[in-house]
Amino acid sequence: MYVCLCNALKCAQFKAAARDGAADVRTVFKACGVRPRCGQCFEEADDVMKTIRRKDDTALA
Ligand code: FES
Repeated sequence: MYVCLCNALKCAQFKAAARDGAADVRTVFKACGVRPRCGQCFEEADDVMKTIRRKDDTALA
């Protein structure tokens, strides 16, 4: 599923970035070699990354 339609970035890319320790959504854009455009995906992308971090934290506890 696409999260960022402007740059064709998929949910899986944001999940992978979160698992790899990406600090925030902008870091993912930069790592993918694209720039944010409209910004409408930021909230959803941030939620995806937070969910992964929470799961990882729970797994470590
Ligand atoms: S949908 Fe991501 S920048 Fe527009």
